[in-house]
Amino acid sequence: MKIERESRRADALRVLGRKVPAHWSIEVQARCDSTNSELVRRSDPTPVALFALEQTAGRGRRGRIWSARPGDSLTFSLAFDFPCRADALAGLSLAVGVALADALVAQGVDGIALKWPNDLMRHGGKLGGILIELASASGGGTRAVIGVGVNLAPPAEGDYASPPVALYADTPGQDDWLRLAAALLDALADALPLFADQGFAAFGERWNGYNLHAGRDVVMLDEPQARLVSLRGRCVGVDRDGALLLDCGGRIERVLAGDVSLRADPTGAR
Ligand code: BTN
Repeated sequence: MKIERESRRADALRVLGRKVPAHWSIEVQARCDSTNSELVRRSDPTPVALFALEQTAGRGRRGRIWSARPGDSLTFSLAFDFPCRADALAGLSLAVGVALADALVAQGVDGIALKWPNDLMRHGGKLGGILIELASASGGGTRAVIGVGVNLAPPAEGDYASPPVALYADTPGQDDWLRLAAALLDALADALPLFADQGFAAFGERWNGYNLHAGRDVVMLDEPQARLVSLRGRCVGVDRDGALLLDCGGRIERVLAGDVSLRADPTGAR
């Protein structure tokens, strides 16, 4: 029976995810609209990790959709309560990117990089993304619903800002899914308490080590139009808050993640 199969996957994740504390709840659903939407609707005690084998209304950043054929994307969300206010979580999505990148590299995946603020890249194409939604936690502090989508098999043709890439040439089997899901969950089990304790400062150096655009000329585009060049400069890296530093002819500009996106400068104008 189907329900049993999903609960067996959750049990297997509990065994494979050696760093996941016993009080974290782990669920696997065959299908849901969006693992982020589902956890945002709930108010149960956290941490809760919810995986879905298929999402019918998966969401990406800036109102984009995150769609994938069943089994072709590893999709999950993790609800985690932080004791701080929401503004202290500005660098969280970058820290999550570092944790996921480390986990993929440890799994032997080559060509991994991060594109500011939080795209997971492989050989220059988009491998995955992170969508974080914040709300007040019931006991005070802030509840973060951290959504992660990783392309397992090549996505269907579409209009993508960065060409998508995948981990496998074809839909992987359950063992590969379990191994990867457990590795990513383990990485977050390490990273989130560290972020709660030390903030993004504990991740900045590692983020810069993965920076896709390190030392390259880039342009910032105003979203959602993704057309207007708001800033052009050389990418220096991120600071201890996760803000992007651009060298604009000797003047360092600090860019906060928001309605901007980053591209290599096609003109090479600097
Ligand atoms: C992006 O736009 O790059 C972020 C994509 C995030 C997709 C994941 S899939 C699991 C979780 N549930 C969602 O609806 N979105 C996130």
